[in-house]
Amino acid sequence: MQNNIITIDGPSGVGKGTLAISLAEKLKWNYLNSGSLYRTLAYLSNEKKIEDSDTESLVKLTNNLNVEFEINNSELIVMVDNQNISGFIQTEDCAKKASIIASNNMIRKSLIKTQQSFYKLPGLIAEGRDMGSVIFQNAKYKFFLKASREVRAKRRYKQLKQKGINVSLSRLIDELNNRDERDLTRKSSPLIIPTGAVVIDTDNLSIDEVIDQVTKHIKQLVETKK
Ligand code: DC
Repeated sequence: MQNNIITIDGPSGVGKGTLAISLAEKLKWNYLNSGSLYRTLAYLSNEKKIEDSDTESLVKLTNNLNVEFEINNSELIVMVDNQNISGFIQTEDCAKKASIIASNNMIRKSLIKTQQSFYKLPGLIAEGRDMGSVIFQNAKYKFFLKASREVRAKRRYKQLKQKGINVSLSRLIDELNNRDERDLTRKSSPLIIPTGAVVIDTDNLSIDEVIDQVTKHIKQLVETKK
């Protein structure tokens, strides 16, 4: 069991990112945002005009992926080959393509080692859909966040608005439904609650309350940082 890995899984718009970044800052640990890896693949495949069905080219792209995450003022910066692509991968179109690509078993398999390579001392916060169930099964601390679709869509709407990205709430709800359906029903590592994970229903909690709950579970780790 690895006591310096924390996994955070859950569906879109549940607040994983904010929680993960806050913990990474608090503990000064490394951070893996696995959704951004799938989004990066979606962005690059679009740039290179690779079809979603062209598994061979997509796997090649996956094997040559050079992604780094930086946290700046609690915001995630995604660097690919030293270029900041954060703005490009936040769109709903990119999320949709990412979800389609992520349902391909060959691509998921070829991304396993890349994801595991983010584990470096002193520790790692890994967030996504299969962090605790597949990629870091040995993590000591596993969390699963959930919230109703309506609450998640509203949170996502607010988040995108703040970033100056314009979307309609009804389109967001539709997109979220489609993505949930794909992520939950795909054959290869569907979204599940990992064995041993602490489940937190965030519907009626502020992000600070979620952070407080998680902090209680990892008290030992936080204490050593004081
Ligand atoms: O967390 P996100 O919305 O940025 O993720 C984008 C898509 O990537 C999501 O629809 C499903 C997929 N994904 C995945 O299949 N496995 C992960 N560990 C992370 C994301």
